Amino acid sequence: MKNTAIFILFVLAVTGFLYSISGKKYPQMPANADHMGITDTAICLGCHDAGKVYPRKETHPPKFECLKCHKQKRKKT
Ligand code: HEC
Ligand code: HEC
Repeated sequence: MKNTAIFILFVLAVTGFLYSISGKKYPQMPANADHMGITDTAICLGCHDAGKVYPRKETHPPKFECLKCHKQKRKKT
């Protein structure tokens, strides 16, 4: 019984670790025409800078290589 509990905890820990490195902790870009195939941060900021269509929150990490964190959501076909 005790071994089962330890095993379950172990599985949860491994799953949690894999999830944490899977890149899903950052919001993904929607798979729409606005986001497909963009590689230039300056283009992102054309919409996501302060005062634009969809500004980033004030708490947003002050980093500029958007694509290091934000991956393209896969299009479901
Ligand atoms: C033409 C304007 C436009 C451009 C260019 C653009 N975005 Fe967006 N983006 C939007 C809009 C509008 C939304 C929110 C609407 C939606 O969810 O479809 C959005 C949503 C997002 C989201 C999801 C935010 C959330 O709340 O979940 C992320 C992440 C994102 N964009 C990142 C990027 C990155 C990185 C780039 C550059 C590679 C980029 N965007 C380029 C307009 C744009
Ligand atoms: C260091 C990783 C990282 C980088 C680099 C990064 N982001 Fe984000 N982004 C995040 C995280 C984490 C969140 C979720 C913040 C939250 O929910 O408070 C987020 C959220 C967003 C959102 C949703 C609105 C918001 O502020 O929560 C947009 C839009 C967005 N980022 C756009 C961009 C753009 C455009 C760039 C490039 C200029 C960029 N991000 C670079 C980590 C990053």
